[in-house]
Amino acid sequence: MPSLCGLLRMLMGKRYIPSVCATMALVLTLMSGQAMLCQSVPLAVTPPMGWNSWNHFGAKVTDADVRATADAMVASGMRDAGYTYVNIDDDWEGERDAQGNIHGNIRFPDMKALADYVHSKGLKLGIYSSPGTKTCEGNAGSYGYEQKDADTFAAWGVDFLKYDLCSYMDEMKLHDPKQDPQLALAMMKEAYAKMHQALVNTHRPIVYSICQYGVGSVWEWGPKVGANLWRTTDDIRDDYRSMALIGFSQAGLETFAGPGHWNDPDMLEVGNGGMTPDQYRTQMSLWAMLAAPLLAGNDLSKMDDVTKSILINREVIAVDQDKLGIQGSRVGPPQIWMKPLSGGAKAVAMFNYVTDDEAEPQTLQFKDVGFDGPVHVRDLWAHKDLGVLEGSYTVTIPQGGVVMLRLWH
Ligand code: GAL
Repeated sequence: MPSLCGLLRMLMGKRYIPSVCATMALVLTLMSGQAMLCQSVPLAVTPPMGWNSWNHFGAKVTDADVRATADAMVASGMRDAGYTYVNIDDDWEGERDAQGNIHGNIRFPDMKALADYVHSKGLKLGIYSSPGTKTCEGNAGSYGYEQKDADTFAAWGVDFLKYDLCSYMDEMKLHDPKQDPQLALAMMKEAYAKMHQALVNTHRPIVYSICQYGVGSVWEWGPKVGANLWRTTDDIRDDYRSMALIGFSQAGLETFAGPGHWNDPDMLEVGNGGMTPDQYRTQMSLWAMLAAPLLAGNDLSKMDDVTKSILINREVIAVDQDKLGIQGSRVGPPQIWMKPLSGGAKAVAMFNYVTDDEAEPQTLQFKDVGFDGPVHVRDLWAHKDLGVLEGSYTVTIPQGGVVMLRLWH
């Protein structure tokens, strides 16, 4: 017998029936007291928040690291501030068995038990694979096993999949040695759509994060292959130049983001040690202005207070998570960004992005961000109301740092 969602899909001929399906699912859940899993439940309505193992643990990540991260996410207050997904990146993969089922490697002996543990903390588990035969680290990818892997992930209780292009490039070359770019793009889209369909077929809501480094203007077609988020750039590094280059280059992509589908300028580096606190505040602020996924990439079990204060700044998180889901844009030189918020408010971030060692004064003209007359201004890092101001606001910004404001009439 088809599930309720399956029935709705058959009747309405659509895969995505968010409101009807979500409402019916809720009603049935209330009636039966059971969780009703339905892929048509809207996913990533606001940019996903959580953590990913890659930036800090890289290839050495273990089951114990992931459990410790879940514990720390709760103990630090990050979960209560909105961080939800605990995502294992590459290097969890072991061998396939005779039936083709993928298993965790020696450091991940029991994925189902790990998922249960993460869920018991009120969090969700993410995992990683590739449309190629091999992941970027040379582990088993999902090529030829898409449905099997999706089913395995769903059976383990996975809630998020990062699907990283990696060796799929080789499949593309094998298929078309002349490497026609149009054909390559078509193959890539097909591979991403295939895994999306496999996830849909599991009837488990799994956020779909695609990673192919922004090739082929992915923001234009990401939603069509079912992606909830797509990486817009190559890998971030824990240094200011890399972070600033990636973050500030997002200008112009704002029209492609919205509830359920987000530009992903890669994970946070906050707390990893390669930048100053001001520079990490810049990353947190810029990512919030961009309505970017907020996936911490540090060792949560060893955070100092400054790192915590940056990752758990609820006023900045509220900008990222604002329900309008509008990605902010650059409104003026040198780097003044504005993001419309619900209720008519606006977030404004002023960055001193040049890496000389000078703090510098900058002036925000309120009319440049759409405000005439008196305006309420609040500083989101100082956690301080600046009062009702008129005309402009001048402030000195530390080198590599930011002043982030909320403005409203
Ligand atoms: C890269 C990806 C990184 C990380 C790494 C793992 O392609 O951009 O974020 O996932 O692979 O091998």
